[in-house]
Amino acid sequence: MRILLLGSGGREHAIAYKMAQSPLCEKLFIAPGNAGTAACGQNIALDINNFAAVGDFAIDNGIELIVVGPEAPLVGGIVDFFHRDARLRHILILGPDSKGAQLEGSKDFAKQFMRENGIPTARYQTFTADNINEGYAFLETLAAPYVLKADGLAAGKGVLILPTLEEAKRELRNMLVDAKFGKASGKVVIEEYLTGIEMSAFAITDGTSFKMLPEAKDYKRIYDGDKGPNTGGMGSVSPVVFADKRFMDKVTERIVEPTIRGLQMRGIDYRGFIFFGLMATPDADTGEYDPYVIEYNVRMGDPETESVFPRILSDVVELFTAACKGTLDEVELNIDPWTAACVMMVAGGYPDSYEKGNLITGIENVRDSLVFHAGTSRAANGQVFSNGGRVLCVTSLAPTLPEALLTSYQSAGKIQWRNKFQRNDIGQDLLRLLM
Ligand code: AMP
Ligand code: GLY
Repeated sequence: MRILLLGSGGREHAIAYKMAQSPLCEKLFIAPGNAGTAACGQNIALDINNFAAVGDFAIDNGIELIVVGPEAPLVGGIVDFFHRDARLRHILILGPDSKGAQLEGSKDFAKQFMRENGIPTARYQTFTADNINEGYAFLETLAAPYVLKADGLAAGKGVLILPTLEEAKRELRNMLVDAKFGKASGKVVIEEYLTGIEMSAFAITDGTSFKMLPEAKDYKRIYDGDKGPNTGGMGSVSPVVFADKRFMDKVTERIVEPTIRGLQMRGIDYRGFIFFGLMATPDADTGEYDPYVIEYNVRMGDPETESVFPRILSDVVELFTAACKGTLDEVELNIDPWTAACVMMVAGGYPDSYEKGNLITGIENVRDSLVFHAGTSRAANGQVFSNGGRVLCVTSLAPTLPEALLTSYQSAGKIQWRNKFQRNDIGQDLLRLLM
């Protein structure tokens, strides 16, 4: 098969790495890719949000399968674009159309969908500038802290968690009246604050049947102890120790199955990944964890993919093809029982301003881990340079979490560039749960 993967981060390197292992993969292109994906296939300088350009490239190069990494092209309607065009319709494309992508593209859509389908989530209401006074009144019925969410995509910054009622009201006004996040905050979801442990569950679906991929936990804050501003993710581990069979069965029955049924009821033909951002909340009486949905995403997580995909033993090209064709129930999905732990190495200063273009050395000395590239570029002479905030993701597989973490940190220590930074406590919260 001739395959085109869209995206350029660590997630895409991990997906490319697995696809390149498949005997079904005859030729892999990655657009635009990074220095790491160049080792799995051929990088192509394409603007992935220019659908006509992607379509032309696909036709000219005999592409049979397109895998969409990030959400922007999906929310922007790349799948609709391919399905509408008689020249492109035959190409398999993994990802939902723009209606399905509303699960991520509109928080209000996602919340309505969950309410309609009885999916456990935080109590909420949605407001616009026209009924802002009702928004203030709703805030008064909630307890601190207050959760405000811009309806649309806001580059991961559209969620505010505010400690006081005054700040919540002020920010509600900033979002609705002063367009703090532009059009994305024309509508704002206000919801109840959930407590517990966050984790991520993943399914791949062909619209009718689905398969659960391994779950993972990511670490969003920049500093140890979950301090400092939110980032794209500073590391991840899979599996998640408390997400045992009993808990994952609840996720499947209460969340995943009703989600697939709900999509069908809305007439949405969803073929792709669904990422369930979950809060595992201990029950007041039994202490047992119950899952609640914080958010949906219509793609894999980053850096969750960098610990989830190395655990997939089955052929992912076969899996992706089956999801596109509606034959997912015919494929087997085998998962490595070992633990994967990934440590994200970032540019000092990230997620604020940071340097790019620093020479990276020592990757070749890493023997016991996978090094997925996120923000890197390769010069003509083969040297690799930092080219983003999140730069490299070091993943190790081992029989236990402590071993996987130790190996990843040892490997990360072999890689150098000016002002590199990493969290040193990835997985420590889960190790405490094990004790
Ligand atoms: P989101 O962009 O929806 O993933 O939200 C960003 C982060 O805000 C999440 O990863 C959570 O840490 C936090 N968050 C969102 N909604 C809630 C909620 N209802 N209760 C507690 N924390 C939340
Ligand atoms: N790691 C969280 C995300 O991909 O949204």
